[in-house]
Amino acid sequence: MLSVQNARSLFPLFKAQPDLAFLDSAASAQKAQAVLDAMDEFQKHDYANIHRGLYGLSQRATQAYEDARATVASFINAPTTDSIIFTRNTTEAINLVAQTWVKQNLQKGDAILLTVLEHHANIVPWQMLAQEKGLDIIVADCCDDGSLPLENIQKAWQPNVKFVACTHMSNALGTILPAQEITKYAHQNGAKILLDGSQTVVHSSVDVQALNADFYAFTGHKLYGPTGIGALYVKPELLENMPPYQGGGDMIETVTLPMGTTYAPAPARFEAGTPNIVGAVGLAAAIKFIQQFDTTEIQQHEATLANTAIEKLQTLGSITIHGLAEPRASIVSFTVDGAHPHDIATILDECNVAVRTGHHCAMPLMERLGITGTIRASFAIYNTLQDVEKLVNGVKQAQKLLLPKVS
Ligand code: ALA
Repeated sequence: MLSVQNARSLFPLFKAQPDLAFLDSAASAQKAQAVLDAMDEFQKHDYANIHRGLYGLSQRATQAYEDARATVASFINAPTTDSIIFTRNTTEAINLVAQTWVKQNLQKGDAILLTVLEHHANIVPWQMLAQEKGLDIIVADCCDDGSLPLENIQKAWQPNVKFVACTHMSNALGTILPAQEITKYAHQNGAKILLDGSQTVVHSSVDVQALNADFYAFTGHKLYGPTGIGALYVKPELLENMPPYQGGGDMIETVTLPMGTTYAPAPARFEAGTPNIVGAVGLAAAIKFIQQFDTTEIQQHEATLANTAIEKLQTLGSITIHGLAEPRASIVSFTVDGAHPHDIATILDECNVAVRTGHHCAMPLMERLGITGTIRASFAIYNTLQDVEKLVNGVKQAQKLLLPKVS
């Protein structure tokens, strides 16, 4: 087991920039040396196109790609390797589900239930489909503290809800939803559910079978892995009848002209064209990297950083922390009275502190909270208490500059 205390040294960025307080990992995390090495080695020694070549190199590349799928399956305890589809990212995974299973199975007048906590990736694909098919979109509200208990889902529920698309953890606030309870309720009421696990897989163990999720999506780049690779889990019984997503090579069985193409079984049916082979190898390396740490230690480390930040920011005064409900993980989202989040971020940047500001691709949530945006500090395994100090000192300095009367 590796200790989280040494994690920072395993990321080349911090060797080059030791003083950077990088607090934007919820947007995209830094890359572990182990991930970069695995991708580099693969490209130097084992790279070729997959599923197409009878020569040894192609077979080794195919093996690496399929091994990566097995690594993803075991990471989230999927019952079969074939129930994992590689995608570009979470956004593509959600679009895939919208344009295949949901498009095929929902009819005019049916409804999709979303929550107000969703980021745009889990809103816009459903709106597009709803427009196309005459579906209703129903929205479950959150509580003022950023939590979203099952009662809020029950309150919003309508008899025509046939599908639920729900985040497992809010990207803007860090609050964690009772995904297992929501899934159970959706099933009891005849609906299927997609859980967006982009933020969750980084901070906790996810078990799609325990959750009983129908669809579970996540991305590699927030998991210390590369961009351009994500994964979608589909419950095996739903996969069988899902129509293809995009057409092209590698997703077919036979092609005849003018018509008459037959499709390969899943998961190949959903992976048209040459996929992100190197990305899949990188994602598997990222998973193996994170698995060398104890999940509880990761959670305790990130909770210590987030809670210390909350405590110290609150002592500054004129600060509102948004979404303080438990359970929560690794994200501190706040506003400074009388100052625009972008101005705070600009001053933080001068203090070598990188945070995300604005609506965090969750405009409906910002509207619900009555704000235009927040300053979001998101913590990862490589962050330290010095990073928290820098954040708090930077905010203090920003207050002095922007609001001279406050301090
Ligand atoms: N969803 C990413 C974020 O939360 C981009 O910043």
